[in-house]
Amino acid sequence: MKISVFGLGYVGTVAAACLARDGHYVVGVDPNGTKVDLINSGRSPIIEADIDRLIADGVKSGRLSATKSADYGIGRTELSLVCVGTPSQANGSLDTRYVSRVCTEIGAELPRLKRRHTVVIRSTLLPGSMRDIVVPALETSSGLSAGTDFGLCNNPEFLREGTAVYDYDHPPKTVIGEIDKASGDQLMSLYEHLVAPVIRTTVDAAEMVKYVDNVWHALKICFANEIGNIAKDAGLNGTQIMEMFCKDEKLNISKAYLKPGFAFGGSCLPKDVRALTYRARSADISVPLLETIIESNEAQIAKALRMILAKKVRRIGVLGFSFKAGTDDLRESPVVDLIESLIGKGFDLKLYDKNVRIASLVGANKDYILNHVPHIARLMTDTIDDLLAHGELVIVGNNDPAFLAALQASDPARPIIDIAGVCHPLSATHANYEGICW
Ligand SMILES: NC(=O)c1ccc[n+]([C@@H]2O[C@H](COP(=O)([O-])OP(=O)(O)OC[C@H]3O[C@@H](n4cnc5c(N)ncnc54)[C@H](O)[C@@H]3O)[C@@H](O)[C@H]2O)c1
Repeated sequence: MKISVFGLGYVGTVAAACLARDGHYVVGVDPNGTKVDLINSGRSPIIEADIDRLIADGVKSGRLSATKSADYGIGRTELSLVCVGTPSQANGSLDTRYVSRVCTEIGAELPRLKRRHTVVIRSTLLPGSMRDIVVPALETSSGLSAGTDFGLCNNPEFLREGTAVYDYDHPPKTVIGEIDKASGDQLMSLYEHLVAPVIRTTVDAAEMVKYVDNVWHALKICFANEIGNIAKDAGLNGTQIMEMFCKDEKLNISKAYLKPGFAFGGSCLPKDVRALTYRARSADISVPLLETIIESNEAQIAKALRMILAKKVRRIGVLGFSFKAGTDDLRESPVVDLIESLIGKGFDLKLYDKNVRIASLVGANKDYILNHVPHIARLMTDTIDDLLAHGELVIVGNNDPAFLAALQASDPARPIIDIAGVCHPLSATHANYEGICW
C-alpha cells in the first residue's frame, strides 16, 4: 500500500520504518526539516533499537522517504497515519492543536485525489475527539463526508520507547476504531501478519481504551511503589513481596475485580485497606494512592444515590443487598449503606435477598441481622413478586442470577437501576433500565 505518515516522532518514525520494511511505499511528513533530512539521508531522527537499520534499508530500497509538504505526502498515497504529538497543556488538558492542524491540511488535499483516501489517527486522543475535532477539521477543509467520501479510523499505538520496534511487531493487541467497515478493512491489511488479538470497535471506544491502558500502567507503578515503601519499612524486601503478589494469577494478575460496578464491601477489604493505610500513616510513609481507596469507594455509593434521587420516585424495591450474591454477610455491605441513606431521606423501601432472608430466620447471622440492622430486616419481603408490586423503581444490588429472569418478565416501563451488572440484557428490552457504569 502507499502510505503517508504525518509526524516523524517516536510513533511516526517507527511506523514509517516498519511499514517500509513490510513492503509498503511510505512518505513521512513533518514540518521539522532536520527530521526530514535525516530520514532522506537514511538516518533515524530518534534513538531506538533496530530503527537505524530499518530506515537505512527503507531509504535504500526506495520505499521510504520524507517531506515537509503535506500535499506531496497525500497526493502519492492511499492512506495517511496521523502520529503528531498531543501534549499536555499547563492545566493538564490535552493539546489537540497539532492533530487539528494536520487534519485541516489533509482535508484540503482530499478533493484533489482520484480515489478514496483513508485517514488513520494514531495520536492519543480523548474519547469524543474524533467526533468533535478530527471529523469537523477534515470535513470542513475538504467539503467531503467522513465514512463515505473518505475513510477514517482511530488506531491507538501501544509501543513503549526503548523497545518500540519490537513492540510494533509484537503489540499486546491491535485496536481499530472504524467509522465504516471499508476503512477498518483497509487498515487491518497492514497488520494481518501480526500475532495479537484484534479488536474492531467504534472510534470512541478505541480512543478510550488507550487511556484506560496508560492510566492502568501508571496506577500499577504507583501501587507497587507504595507497597514497596511499606514493605521496606516493615523490614521486608518490596521487590520480593511484589514477586509473591504477581505469582497469584487467579485474583491478582487477572481479570478478577476489573468489572466496573458498585463499591466493594464485606468483612475483609474495607477493614484491611484501612489497617494497612493506617500502618503506613503511623510510620510517616506517604501512600496517597492507598489513602484514596476508601474515598473512591464511597464516591461510588454517592453516585448510586444521586442516580436514585434523579428518578424522583418514593417507593423503591432493592433486589439483593448482601455485599455480593451467594452470601448472607451484611457486614460493611455498601448496599446497606445506600439503603440507610435512602431510609434517612424518607423513601418507602422494600428489600429482597434470598440469602439474607434465610439467615434472618436461621443461621449464624440471625443475631447480626436482628440486632445490628433491625431497621433493614423489617423492610424485607419474602418474594421478588412482593417487591416488584411495591417498587416504582427497582435497584439491582447484587448479582443473584434470579433477578434477571424476574425483571425480564416485569413491566418494561418501570425504571431499573442496576449497580451489579447481572441484569445488563434488560437494556435491550426495558427502556428505563440504567446501569451504574454502562
Ligand atoms: N512516544 C510514545 O512512546 C508513544 C506511545 C504511544 C502513543 N503515543 C502517542 O502518539 C502521538 C505521537 O507521540 P510521539 O512521542 O511520537 O510525538 P513526538 O512529539 O515525538 O513527535 C510528534 C511529531 O509531529 C510533528 N508534527 C507536528 N505538527 C505536524 C504537522 N502539521 N504535520 C506533520 N507533522 C507534524 C512534530 O514535528 C514531531 O516531529 C502522541 O499522541 C502520543 O501520546 C506516543
